[in-house]
Amino acid sequence: MEKRTNSPFPRIDRPVLAAIGIVLVGATVFFAWSDRQHDYKYYQYAFRGMVAEKLGAERAATVPSGLQQVWVPGLRRADRCVTCHQAVSWKGFETAEEPHRTHPGDLLKSHPPERFGCSACHGGQGWAIDTAAAHGEVAHWEEPLLGKPLGEAYSLTDNKAALMQMNCNICHRYERATKGAEMINLAKDLVQEKGCRACHVINGRGGTIGPDLTWVGDKAPEQYDYSRLSGQTTAFAWHVAHFKDPRALVQDTVMPNFHLSTKQAQALAMLMLSWRKAPFDAAFLPGVPRTDPQTADERKAEEDMKTGPGAWFVQTGCFVCHSIAALKVRSPAQIGPDLSTAVEDTQKRFGVTVDQFLKNPTGTMSVVLSRQIVLTPEQKETAIQKLREAFAEYQRLVAEGKNPLAPPVEAAPK
Ligand code: HEC
Ligand code: HEC
Ligand code: HEC
Ligand code: HEC
Ligand code: HEC
Repeated sequence: MEKRTNSPFPRIDRPVLAAIGIVLVGATVFFAWSDRQHDYKYYQYAFRGMVAEKLGAERAATVPSGLQQVWVPGLRRADRCVTCHQAVSWKGFETAEEPHRTHPGDLLKSHPPERFGCSACHGGQGWAIDTAAAHGEVAHWEEPLLGKPLGEAYSLTDNKAALMQMNCNICHRYERATKGAEMINLAKDLVQEKGCRACHVINGRGGTIGPDLTWVGDKAPEQYDYSRLSGQTTAFAWHVAHFKDPRALVQDTVMPNFHLSTKQAQALAMLMLSWRKAPFDAAFLPGVPRTDPQTADERKAEEDMKTGPGAWFVQTGCFVCHSIAALKVRSPAQIGPDLSTAVEDTQKRFGVTVDQFLKNPTGTMSVVLSRQIVLTPEQKETAIQKLREAFAEYQRLVAEGKNPLAPPVEAAPK
């Protein structure tokens, strides 16, 4: 062996260093071992003690020991959470410390652990048997437990535990409302109310000005452009900021600013991220049929307008974004202005006649007329003619004191 002459340590210190080395190795082994004691064996031992104390030795003997695994082939999951969380299906431990607490609520009745496991709702890494790993404490949104700590990190405004509802909706997406998923329900209402389908295909139905949103939750976090986003660079943060002000992130977008509250923007961001393809068997997807059809009321309202005085605007598709109150056309989305007065308004708003505007449109209408509703020159003439007729009808109604654009009288409070 080569003799080392340039060692920084005098010979005499070498035995001391060796001794320190041995102590360090010993300490590592000791800590690793003592950590094991805090692992599932410790939790199982503690839970057996709790059952013995509360329900007697006989019941305690029935508490299983060793690794517990729920394998759900239909969900492609193998969850070992119950190895530590043994108490979830026991009554009487409602106030115990985790992981020894009875599962809150009654969701396990409709989603029994032996059929659903745990991670399909909670997230986390089902197969892991160390607390931190099982709770998936890593930087990616879909891996960690979708619990309160993550909700706090994402600055959820009221219910910090709400993130889990993203997972509920992977299965419950075709329901208009799901009990226990209030944020998702709020977002689903907003999608109807704001008329997102005017521009986006969702579940196979809608316009094509914006991207198809059906599986938008599968877009990888790295695919978003974060250059205009300050703060967290997560897909969730991107969607919240985009909903609050689309143009702040995508300068030339025609997506409108809906002036949403933070809570509404967060709810919509959750809904977007829940629209993922799940590798689940169909038996796990409630809601039949598994599509998202218009309700009977929505269909009837559309049928009535198709045969009314504003039929042209309905058949052409303008009504998707515009009401024409003078012709009794009511848009489900009302993204653009009421067209009853367009003949006058294009002058005021754009400084051009309505003819010029339709031939040389700007903003949203330039996208609409080049991509969504492509009109021949003759059809544009028809459009101008129809807009003039709508304006004439508007003036007639105003002269009779029945302004169709007057704000509706507030209903008396119930
Ligand atoms: C090695 C034992 C162990 C395993 C395995 C384990 N947990 Fe836990 N869990 C704990 C302990 C200990 C706590 C309480 C302390 C804490 O929050 O870290 C806890 C707390 C929780 C909480 C409440 C706190 C929170 O963050 O919201 C949830 C929910 C939870 N676990 C879900 C799960 C799920 C789902 C799995 C399976 C993917 C799982 N756990 C696997 C030990 C475990
Ligand atoms: C159908 C979805 C679903 C399934 C399946 C499910 N849970 Fe839950 N779990 C919930 C909901 C919802 C809550 C309540 C969250 C809240 O309001 O704080 C909850 C709460 C908990 C809590 C307490 C969290 C806290 O912050 O106090 C623990 C621990 C937990 N679940 C563990 C499990 C384990 C372990 C399993 C598997 C045996 C499981 N859950 C299966 C939906 C589910
Ligand atoms: C893995 C898919 C899956 C996940 C995740 C899931 N569910 Fe379900 N849920 C189902 C299925 C399947 C049914 C049962 C439908 C049936 O066959 O009756 C159901 C039933 C329900 C019911 C009706 C129960 C009843 O008593 O009528 C409610 C409410 C519900 N789920 C809420 C939730 C909530 C809240 C979450 C998230 C915390 C959630 N679900 C997560 C698949 C899922
Ligand atoms: C007037 C048309 C229009 C309306 C109405 C509209 N959007 Fe958009 N949306 C767009 C366009 C164009 C884009 C692409 C540019 C951008 O990201 O802003 C877009 C982008 C998006 C994206 C980002 C998709 C991705 O893959 O990056 C989401 C999510 C989204 N819209 C959701 C919604 C929701 C939810 C609503 C209803 C509350 C809505 N949009 C209403 C036009 C619209
Ligand atoms: C996807 C939504 C959408 C559709 C579909 C749509 N528009 Fe528009 N339109 C708008 C928006 C939004 C504006 C407001 C200007 C802007 O924001 O760029 C507008 C403005 C207009 C204007 C100017 C009105 C004014 O008061 O200044 C006219 C005229 C018009 N649209 C006619 C039509 C006609 C005719 C059709 C059907 C062939 C149609 N639009 C279809 C969204 C739409």
